Amino acid sequence: MKSERIALPDTRAVGRLRERLRYWTKELDFPSIRATKVLTAASELARNTVIYGGGGEVFLERIDGPRDKVGIRMRFVDQGPGIADLELAFTDGYTSGSGLGLGLSGARRLLGDLSVDTSPAGTTVEGTAWRR
Ligand SMILES: Nc1ncnc2c1ncn2[C@@H]1O[C@H](COP(=O)(O)OP(=O)(O)O)[C@@H](O)[C@H]1O
Ligand SMILES: [Mg+2]
Repeated sequence: MKSERIALPDTRAVGRLRERLRYWTKELDFPSIRATKVLTAASELARNTVIYGGGGEVFLERIDGPRDKVGIRMRFVDQGPGIADLELAFTDGYTSGSGLGLGLSGARRLLGDLSVDTSPAGTTVEGTAWRR
């Protein structure tokens, strides 16, 4: 289990991603509290891909660091309209829709780091969930 692609056409696919990530975090021995946080972050990003990106996909990849450091890189890709103001999008409570506006900011807090590449041709959000 080194990498996996999961299609995200609609919100039902978010459940599928959660199942697969549950499996990955078990395989890689993530502590269960940590696994829950990873699933929470991933669900928020996947929802954004579906709701704002018009659907897309997510790529999971195992990352092996030095010693026994291991993580799951998650890359969410869509071809939606992009994020016009990234700083605003990361502001706690900001939503352009009907959400709580805590998805991006919360995912960044939970994962520690999040990189976003966005343009009117689409958005890629990438973060790595490290085992703690
Ligand atoms: N993949 C994306 N494509 C376009 N816009 C996005 C995407 N992800 C997030 N956004 C924008 O960033 C805002 C903040 O996202 P988020 O923090 O998850 O809050 P919420 O989902 O509750 O609106 C969204 O309201 C939306 O405007
Ligand atoms: Mg959101």
